[in-house]
Amino acid sequence: MELIKTRKELQYVLNSDRNRALSIGLVPTMGALHKGHLSLVDRAVRENDRVVVSIFVNPTQFNDTNDLKNYPRTIEADAELLSLYPAVYIFSPDVSEVYPEPDTRRFDFGPLETVMEGRYRPGHFNGVAQVVSKLFEIIKPDRAYFGLKDFQQYSIIKNLVAMLGLPVEIVPCDIVREADGLAMSSRNALLSKEHRAVTPQIYRILQEAVIEAGIYAPDEVKRRVIEKINSNALLKVEYFEIVDELTLQAIAGWDQKGKKVGCIAVYAGSVRLIDNIVFDK
Ligand code: PAJ
Repeated sequence: MELIKTRKELQYVLNSDRNRALSIGLVPTMGALHKGHLSLVDRAVRENDRVVVSIFVNPTQFNDTNDLKNYPRTIEADAELLSLYPAVYIFSPDVSEVYPEPDTRRFDFGPLETVMEGRYRPGHFNGVAQVVSKLFEIIKPDRAYFGLKDFQQYSIIKNLVAMLGLPVEIVPCDIVREADGLAMSSRNALLSKEHRAVTPQIYRILQEAVIEAGIYAPDEVKRRVIEKINSNALLKVEYFEIVDELTLQAIAGWDQKGKKVGCIAVYAGSVRLIDNIVFDK
């Protein structure tokens, strides 16, 4: 593992790797690494000769300044975790390194960004697209790894790559969960003990929704999920939508073609958690 702070230094080592025909994988992260992130790194290491793990808390994707301020930053522990991987470069740039000038680009993802996260976090995906396109430009990876926990982000990135015609393969990676079902997230560290204790209900209720899909229409399944989660005084659903995996638009009925995904955002106190589940119907 090698820790690199500047794009110049990173490009220097990557050029030499590329000249030796080594393949390069990228795992973009905001740090505070957990086993979810590491599952992406493991896969990237298996499938590429060299892997860049970027650790950068990207200010342009935070629509809430408190969230940005409170976002956990644990670079030393992160570097320690990644020290076990000989083929990994950590790229942990300062803001001025990624944004030497303010990024004024505006991306348009159409209906993909007007729903769910895009609706409740205005500007969020524009910021994600800004930073990921910069990382792609700096690193020019052969493959880039994204977790399906952030299902809408994965869709947006696939769209970005198609829109820009970039020669990078986007590899989706399964959600990694705690033993009690809570999807791993850097934000879990911010939960109080009381909130942490009730958060496994989110995934349990999503699993029940999959069973209830055999009984009720999508709108009724949706209503029941929201009602069950909100019946816990420590949890508050922001949205729950059952969407088509490609268009991200709410489905009309279970007989609609294509895979359906139930996507949820829940506040546990001031901590915002997201999760999703696939309906195999
Ligand atoms: P971050 O939240 O740090 O997540 C980095 C990557 O790890 C994302 O692709 C995310 O989907 C994946 N990930 C997080 N928790 C996971 C889990 N429990 N199981 C599987 N994968 C998981 O997502 C971002 O950072 C940023 O938006 C970023 C893409 C880095 C752009 O700034």
